[in-house]
This record gives sequence, C-alpha cells and structure tokens, in this order.
Amino acid sequence: MGEKKFLYLENIEKRFPITGKEDYVAVTNVHLEIKENEIVSIIGHSGCGKSTLLNMIAGLDRQTSGNILLTG
Ligand SMILES: Nc1ncnc2c1ncn2[C@@H]1O[C@H](COP(=O)(O)OP(=O)(O)OP(=O)(O)O)[C@@H](O)[C@H]1O
Ligand SMILES: [Mg+2]
Repeated sequence: MGEKKFLYLENIEKRFPITGKEDYVAVTNVHLEIKENEIVSIIGHSGCGKSTLLNMIAGLDRQTSGNILLTG
C-alpha cells in the first residue's frame, strides 16, 4: 500500500515570460516521486521555486514542460 506510486513529477520546467527579455526559468529539471502515505518537505531559499512547484502540483498553474502524474 505504502509502495504505491502516488505523485510523480518528470522533468518539470516552468518559465515565466518577461516582456522584452528572455523567459525567466523558475524551476527546471525537477524529478520527484512520492509514494502514498509518504511525507516530503520541499525546502530552499526564498525564490528557489517552491510555490511555483506546488502551484503546478495543485493544478493552479501549468508547467512549461514535463509531466505531472497523480495516481496514474
Ligand atoms: N508570475 C511570475 N512571473 C514572473 N516570475 C515569477 C512569477 N512567479 C514567480 N516568479 C519567480 O520565480 C522564482 C520562484 O518563485 P517562487 O515564488 O516559486 O519561490 P519560493 O521558493 O516559493 O519563494 P518563497 O520562499 O519566498 O515563498 C522567483 O524568482 C520569482 O520571482
Ligand atoms: Mg513561496
């Protein structure tokens, strides 16, 4: 039961378009696998992309590339 794949992130990248400049790369190359009942903390300095990542996992924002799978 605890071994079941629950949340799977594959090569996630999020870029924000900046007018007149190159896209801002907020997160890149994120691979993460979380099993059911597993507890994972995402830590890092301010601006490293934690909220950006969680917004995509919650479906509030869309990744620029990569796959997010929730229980298949
Ligand atoms: N809508 C947006 N447009 C442009 N840049 C953005 C946008 N949202 C976030 N960013 C940038 O992406 C980077 C990651 O931001 P994010 O809010 O995910 O960081 P965080 O790890 O949650 O920081 P904190 O610990 O302060 O909450 C930051 O450099 C931020 O300025
Ligand atoms: Mg945040």
